[in-house]
Amino acid sequence: MLKIVVCVSGGGTNLQAIIDGVHAGSIPNVEILRVISNNRNAYALERAKQAGIEGICVSPRDYPDREQFNEALLKAVDEVSPDLIVLAGFLVVLPPQLIKEYENKIINIHPSLIPSFCGKGYYGLKVHEAVLERGVKVTGATVHFVDEGTDTGPIIMQKAVQVLQRDTPETLQQRVMEEAEWVILPWSLALIAAGAVTVVDGRVQIAE
Ligand code: GAR
Repeated sequence: MLKIVVCVSGGGTNLQAIIDGVHAGSIPNVEILRVISNNRNAYALERAKQAGIEGICVSPRDYPDREQFNEALLKAVDEVSPDLIVLAGFLVVLPPQLIKEYENKIINIHPSLIPSFCGKGYYGLKVHEAVLERGVKVTGATVHFVDEGTDTGPIIMQKAVQVLQRDTPETLQQRVMEEAEWVILPWSLALIAAGAVTVVDGRVQIAE
């Protein structure tokens, strides 16, 4: 059984895709131990509650400085000793100690085809605004392991999505979620739970 912690900041539709997959049996051998949000008002916490999963808030607002927030976040993860941490729309810079402690045990979903439209400042709707501004015709989503950089870790899976001429950032975001994110995040989890994903020389290999 792969025991996971899911970290969220907002609506939690990716969290929902994981919950649904676990319940439906399409993500076998995965147990969600805890959901952690940096935002008390995140709807993702409500989704956790409705699914009977413990949801907790660790907000930087509740700590005098970043150091103490980082310690609290690390504690909230360590307390339940997960095999894997899933960043599902978690818009917080991770404590370096967490990244070190959980090397190749943290995955992130990013709403573009890395290495395009990623790195510092590219998150949420901003990614889709930049995609439309540049006029690319194909975008997508990427699941990757997290390293010390921003969106630089080994890539596990990607899926392309067409950009339409009439797209707004909002319609594009929705299509990227529906066609790519909610597909490749659960799928990646299922592969990891099956022991099929390894990192060799900084690149992901998937057992066939
Ligand atoms: C998702 O589109 C996810 O890819 C993005 O935030 C959204 C969260 O939505 N993550 C990033 O931009 C990380 N750089 P959700 O809360 O409905 O899952």
